[in-house]
Amino acid sequence: MKTKLKKLYEGKAKIIYQKNIKEVHAYYKNDATAFNNLKKGSIKDKGKINNAICSYLYEILNNADIPTHFIKKIDKNTQLLEKVDIVPIEVLVRNYFAGSLSEKFGIKEGTKIPDALIEYCLKSDELGDPHISPEHIFTLNLCDPETLELIDDYSLRVNDILRSVFYTVGLKLIDFKLEFGISKKSNELVLADEISPDTCRLWDLKTNEKLDKDRFRRDLGGVEEAYLEVMNRLGLKI
Ligand code: TMP
Ligand code: ASP
Repeated sequence: MKTKLKKLYEGKAKIIYQKNIKEVHAYYKNDATAFNNLKKGSIKDKGKINNAICSYLYEILNNADIPTHFIKKIDKNTQLLEKVDIVPIEVLVRNYFAGSLSEKFGIKEGTKIPDALIEYCLKSDELGDPHISPEHIFTLNLCDPETLELIDDYSLRVNDILRSVFYTVGLKLIDFKLEFGISKKSNELVLADEISPDTCRLWDLKTNEKLDKDRFRRDLGGVEEAYLEVMNRLGLKI
């Protein structure tokens, strides 16, 4: 969508425009990055595909009474969102070992974790999103203990919902990243940022084929096809 709105911020995958003091537009781009910007590229139709997937998932979360920033999908690349002050923490929720957790402990990717594991990273590209503990979070004043408790509670509820949504379409939710913010509309903590194959690891239930951004990160090929496959399985179109 061509827009005359003021650009507030351009991130790696989205551009945020000011709609009014309480609402923004998020425009989903085809740009892809990995390893905190070290690897750059573009994935055909990613903006439209991720917007379709993310809007669908956020509608489900809104209907399940998880407070989120999502208001509605406006067009193929754009969402209307509540403006938030982002909490500078990336929350990683893991159901199986993979990625940095597998590397850290030398445990094979795909090994089941009995209860979902939550980890936190400081949201800082310059520092490479370092992993942090709750003690670091409170020392750095990133949020207070009550807010972190709520973040954990919402994250586990989101995990339960997303796991079952993906399971229904033959996908295993290996892990994912969430962000939260304080809404300018409600003044409450809300789930924010995107949920898509950029931010989730999704494996085919039967073959364990990777259908997410690891195809881009690891040069596995078939990147657009993987994103399209996730979208098609969810019954969505661009
Ligand atoms: P990791 O294994 O690299 O720590 O990533 C765990 C999950 O979080 C994986 O699904 C990718 C996602 N993630 C992001 O979306 N953005 C990030 O900046 C990071 C560190 C992870
Ligand atoms: N989102 C991060 C980046 O764009 C990390 C990743 O997804 O690998 O660099």
